[in-house]
Amino acid sequence: MSNLFRKKDVSQLLNGNTERLPQTLSGFDLVMLGVGAIVGTGIFILPGTVAATHSGPAIVISFIIAAIVCALAAMCYSEFSSTIPVTGSAYTYGYIIFGEIIAWLVGWALVLEYGLASASVATGWSAYFVNLLEGLNIFIPEMFTGPFDPENGTFINLPAVIIVLAIAFLLTRGIQESTKINKIMVFVKVGVILLFVLVGMFYVKPENWQPFMPFGIEGVLSGAALVFFAFLGFDAVSSAAEEVKNPQRNMPIGIIGSLFICTLLYVAVSLVLTGIVSYTQLNVTDSVSYALQLVNQNWISGIISIGAVTGMMTVILVMIFGGTRLLYALGRDGLLPKIMTQLDQKHKTPVKNTWIFAILIAFCAGFIPLGTLAELVNMGTLIAFIIVSIGVIFLRKNKNMPTSGFKVPLFPVIPILSFGACVFLILQLAISTWIACGIWFLIGLVLYFVYGKRHSTMNE
Ligand code: ALA
Repeated sequence: MSNLFRKKDVSQLLNGNTERLPQTLSGFDLVMLGVGAIVGTGIFILPGTVAATHSGPAIVISFIIAAIVCALAAMCYSEFSSTIPVTGSAYTYGYIIFGEIIAWLVGWALVLEYGLASASVATGWSAYFVNLLEGLNIFIPEMFTGPFDPENGTFINLPAVIIVLAIAFLLTRGIQESTKINKIMVFVKVGVILLFVLVGMFYVKPENWQPFMPFGIEGVLSGAALVFFAFLGFDAVSSAAEEVKNPQRNMPIGIIGSLFICTLLYVAVSLVLTGIVSYTQLNVTDSVSYALQLVNQNWISGIISIGAVTGMMTVILVMIFGGTRLLYALGRDGLLPKIMTQLDQKHKTPVKNTWIFAILIAFCAGFIPLGTLAELVNMGTLIAFIIVSIGVIFLRKNKNMPTSGFKVPLFPVIPILSFGACVFLILQLAISTWIACGIWFLIGLVLYFVYGKRHSTMNE
């Protein structure tokens, strides 16, 4: 029994023989990485579909509620990552504070988050891409543009499969240039969003904001649990902790700064979007460019589609990257087979785990209807947030931990609020999501008892 809760020694992680990654990233780099990982389908698709089906124009309130939950968790992440700047994010924090089995379950939940998030962003990307090609009079046969659903005439979402495999290929080639490329893409992405807001502003008709809450407060709350997806990715910033200069100062800047910028963008876009078009018309996969087409701004709409297609690629890239590094960490600790840690001789990247992960993601993106599955992503992430929020309380109490670094203000009120808010959002998710999540954890537990527990490096 005690084996299940064996913990990693923090001083060994920080000062031991384990090879440490070079510290090269600045606070600004982190903010860029954060915005690159966060802004994707959450801004180009969700504001439309969630406004149409859950929140109405009050989608802006749903975004603000989700942002508050994330801000609370972000402070807890900042304290962890600036106090113990090691790679592995919530998984490693769980290992230090709660012990192996909890760490494994958090790692398992995060594999789900990164995997399904990249798959659903890939399908969102595909929707924008197909529309963009249609604008150029290039038509992909319909059977290749959706999940396996012969009744509705679709068999495979080919663009989604191709983009996942292409990005995986890029990742296996090494990621030296990736922060540079990421920065360029982030500028393009933020540029087109500002363009949308500036142009769209002139077409806003305040009567479209009435009724403001057509689905009542329940709609706004369940909308908040869905648009929570839009903020995912800021937690991935904390996986870079080991590679950051002066993490005590820069981690909070990176995590809280990128969250703040994204919240401003989301609020602006949802106000303008629901102001241009009645929410009832927004249940489309490319709502942001669709709204501009409705007011005959076809050129701008085209530019925004190009920006969206570029911007969503960075999300897929960072999510697959995060997932492969997590699988690497799980393999290094013996909880998954060693194949996860094999590096390519030339490019020094975990090639095998990248391909295994990418093929699974491509399969989900290509064949499975992701609508409800995407909610699972939120569930997986909220579970990690819960562990980090309670973890901070134990982190502070533990006298063996380093004392430098960012401190959550109003301790312990904020961690407790963060915990409560995450539980509240989890309760808003559909029952089918709960069941699917239960099955996922059951598989995880079986894997742990059959493999991980016996092969864990903690046995040595
Ligand atoms: N936050 C990411 C997105 O909106 C997952 O695409």
